Amino acid sequence: MGKGFYISKTLGIVGIVIGAGAVATIIALSVVYSQEKSKNNEIENQQTTTTKGPTTNVPATTNIPTTVPSNEPWDQWRLPQTLSPETYKVTLWPRLQKNAEGLYIFTGDSSVVFRCVENTDLILIHSNKLTIKDSTTLKALGGNPAPNIVSTKMYPKTQYMAIWLDRELTAGESYELYTEFVGELSDDLGGFYRSEYYDENGVLKVVATTQMQATDARKAFPCFDEPAMKAVFNIVLLHDPGTVALSNGVVIEEIPVTVDGISLTKTTFAPTEKMSTYLLAFIVSEFTYIEQKLDDLQIRIFARKEAIDANQGEYALSVTGKILRFFEEYYNSSYPLPKSDQIALPDFNAGAMENWGLITYRETALLYDEEMSSNGNKERVVTVIAHELAHQWFGNLVTIRWWNDLWLNEGFASYVEYLGADEAEPLWNIKDLIVLNDVHRVFAIDALASSHPLSSKEEDVQRPEQISEVFDTISYSKGASVLRMLSNFLSEDVFTQGLRTYLEHFKFNNTVYTDLWDHLQMAVDETGTELPRSVKDIMDRWVLQMGFPVVTINTVTGQISQEHFLLDPETKPEPSEFNYEWFVPITWTKNEAIKPQYWLLQKNTQFDDMKTNANEWVLANINTVGYYRVNYDEQNWERLLNALQTSRESIPVINRAQLIDDAFNLAKAGIIKTTLALRTTEFLDVETEYMPWQSALNNLDYFYLMFDRSEVYGHMQAYIRKQVTPLFEYFTELTDWQGVPDNHTEQYNQVNALRVACSIGLKNCTDLVTSWFGEWMNNEDVNPIHANLRSTVYCSAIAAGGAEEWEFAWKMFEKTSVASEKDKLRAAMACATQPWLLNRYLEYTLDANKIRKQDATSTIVSIASNVGGQSLAWDFVRANWEYIFNQYGGGSFSFSNLINGVTKRFSTEFELKQLMQFKEDNEHIGFGSGSLAIQQSIERTKANIKWVEQNKADVLQWFKDQSKP
Ligand SMILES: *[C@@H]1O[C@H](CO)[C@@H](O)[C@H](O)[C@H]1NC(C)=O
Ligand SMILES: *[C@@H]1O[C@H](CO)[C@@H](O)[C@H](O)[C@H]1NC(C)=O
Ligand SMILES: *[C@@H]1O[C@H](CO)[C@@H](O)[C@H](O)[C@H]1NC(C)=O
Ligand SMILES: *[C@@H]1O[C@H](CO)[C@@H](O)[C@H](O)[C@H]1NC(C)=O
Ligand SMILES: [Zn+2]
Repeated sequence: MGKGFYISKTLGIVGIVIGAGAVATIIALSVVYSQEKSKNNEIENQQTTTTKGPTTNVPATTNIPTTVPSNEPWDQWRLPQTLSPETYKVTLWPRLQKNAEGLYIFTGDSSVVFRCVENTDLILIHSNKLTIKDSTTLKALGGNPAPNIVSTKMYPKTQYMAIWLDRELTAGESYELYTEFVGELSDDLGGFYRSEYYDENGVLKVVATTQMQATDARKAFPCFDEPAMKAVFNIVLLHDPGTVALSNGVVIEEIPVTVDGISLTKTTFAPTEKMSTYLLAFIVSEFTYIEQKLDDLQIRIFARKEAIDANQGEYALSVTGKILRFFEEYYNSSYPLPKSDQIALPDFNAGAMENWGLITYRETALLYDEEMSSNGNKERVVTVIAHELAHQWFGNLVTIRWWNDLWLNEGFASYVEYLGADEAEPLWNIKDLIVLNDVHRVFAIDALASSHPLSSKEEDVQRPEQISEVFDTISYSKGASVLRMLSNFLSEDVFTQGLRTYLEHFKFNNTVYTDLWDHLQMAVDETGTELPRSVKDIMDRWVLQMGFPVVTINTVTGQISQEHFLLDPETKPEPSEFNYEWFVPITWTKNEAIKPQYWLLQKNTQFDDMKTNANEWVLANINTVGYYRVNYDEQNWERLLNALQTSRESIPVINRAQLIDDAFNLAKAGIIKTTLALRTTEFLDVETEYMPWQSALNNLDYFYLMFDRSEVYGHMQAYIRKQVTPLFEYFTELTDWQGVPDNHTEQYNQVNALRVACSIGLKNCTDLVTSWFGEWMNNEDVNPIHANLRSTVYCSAIAAGGAEEWEFAWKMFEKTSVASEKDKLRAAMACATQPWLLNRYLEYTLDANKIRKQDATSTIVSIASNVGGQSLAWDFVRANWEYIFNQYGGGSFSFSNLINGVTKRFSTEFELKQLMQFKEDNEHIGFGSGSLAIQQSIERTKANIKWVEQNKADVLQWFKDQSKP
């Protein structure tokens, strides 16, 4: 499933914070924007609102012992290998109306045919939260009679139904187990669940839908619920006439039936391919669809009728065929199924889920509204679709054997989603954006001593909670980054050759990640590709140890060395079997001349080619294809800075962004001076490209958080004003603010220009946004603001305005039915400057009739991101902790997001004391999923205090010097 809005996703995108001129609210601008942008890369498994807890910095394998009460098989987390399922026939009847007890339920029956692999008198099958009726029967499919069932028992903790027999099942024989059951169709977003929405006539509608990954198929019917227990599924759905039933297969029969005196439709689906349980899907709804034929392949997009009627499915439909064809070619394997359905659900926990042939999405990940959606919304749709379609082969056709290898599945899809999206939108340069969206994002997390390796041991990922923990940023974004590096040093041809034979060899089967290495190695050997070590030996360094190196190149001596890069050099990570040394493929240029790739195989080495003469500079990690940072001797840094100033085109655009990101992070780790990092932003006064700007804004964010309440702030603002004014003028020239540029990344940078210019109070900018917003207020039915610019314009206008603007935004928020528009307004209302408006808004967050529960945290965090709202939000959280905890503790409230959000600016002893006091005062209530976040906030506050102490004077002086004429 999907990449997440785990905590990491929201925090990982550094809220870009470029300051607030006269109005002290610009922080909020950044918040709005980062919310927009963070969606782009995002993917399937959005977890902002679940209880699954923090995953950012948490090792995938927490040290909670996998205690079980005994060695009995039903007390183990893994199924015994005694039985192997072959086919299922499952009939399900979801009730879309409440029953007499006020519950939504489903009933069903299931027959599973399994082969006995080893004699046993015990059948263990997963079943969770199902009530199994007494009608369970066992049949033998050979000539002999089946053993009799002696007793059955449910094990809720390990989620099994255990069935004891009077005799053993015989190895080699097949049997059929029949069960009937009842389950609740609850709104918990897992297993078979319900989603609700109001249709265009305001009538409440219920959808029955599924989310099986990772371990919830067992909530829909009893099954051998492990990814390697592949089988063929025959699905039948009973549903009200007039509703549409969907599943993985095509419909082979649809007939009216009467059950218990009720007229129903019985829809039978074609048998599936041999597949894993976690990829099943069943949906009953009143949705409508649009379709397209691609030769014999049927492609459909399903959504609420209102959304389909508003053409919000058209974009998805227009890109799906292209992307499918691309992957067929890329994998050298035809799409394995006769149809591809994609459906947008009003309530969906992940971003999307790659169910084979029936992919489910959040509405914002599939639907695109020509008028209301921004280009960021569009990019999100195309990348999420590409990600899910990539899984139809990599993940679905060939599946990891167990969840500890999840990183391969998700990392791979997170890498090739850029290739698929590039096929659909070839003019977007979208492949470059992996550097900002994944590489930089995960660098921030993987540079902590609390990070963890990509690969986990099978025995450390056993319980459902442990399984959900591996769906984190490391799996997705680091996985994507190292696979991209691998594809690069092998060459794309060799990489795809190995990939193709891997898929061919393992189709309908399961693998461990080293199986891919084996096939890549075969491709390397066949093509005679030169590598200094085997694929496995090279990749072990990147996969089995956490973190990444900083490579230091001394262009005076020709020394090259590597070291584990840690943001806080005082922290000590666990020892690594490879001593935190990597085999590093170094791509590099001397001035603009591209040199042959150099492999750094030791900690230190001498490579005279990297020595330079007077006017030469060395640049390494071209286009950031490698998963490492680079530091240079001072002289080379100076030459690079000079090149940025005088001939920036001689440095590839991705590297301009990379130099900034490396410098700021090296400075944070104390390796280079902070002022050197700041100097990498000096060339921005002539830069118009998006990536360097975005990289700088991401990095300056921290400076705003630390200094926006101090004397540094004014000088910093003056410097930013100097840098952004030419950019604003550039876009004035290009568009006269009458529209947006054609070019995708220019559209992003136009938003940056507007956001930053307004935030430093550039008059032309604030006049512009105020007049647009005013126009809208004068005629609320016609919004004159381009969708790309809305987040920024709303925020700036509300910041510059007062109660009237705020009330208008609130009214529009309540009025719109477009989810992305609601999000833009909700975040923008946090940009207000009047404390009473912010305080009232804080109160609204605890009123579910005003702000949906799932949005409460992010709203409070937006308010805290506004420098004027920071202390209000902190006071609010402190004052209401008990209430918040009790009201929201059960589910849809991310305490760790909340705590991290309201404390991220903390950088004084006084704030540290308040934080510790808060912890002490509320220990008796608890912090739920925020416990780790409290600890992290304390650590972070201490680190901030130290950083400010060490850097404030220099930073202040530097900004002062910059604004001297
Ligand atoms: C593509 O697949 C076909 C059929 O399996 C095979 O014959 C062919 O060699 C493959 N081509 C490549 C480039 O892998
Ligand atoms: C879009 O703009 C960027 C930056 O100027 C440029 O590198 C890219 O080639 C442009 N794309 C197109 C299709 O013109
Ligand atoms: C699946 O792969 C395993 C391990 O490579 C192999 O032993 C087995 O025969 C394969 N099964 C099928 C059905 O291809
Ligand atoms: C602001 O607008 C005025 C009038 O259109 C123009 O002359 C001036 O150059 C603009 N300044 C900036 C910084 O865009
Ligand atoms: Zn995925």
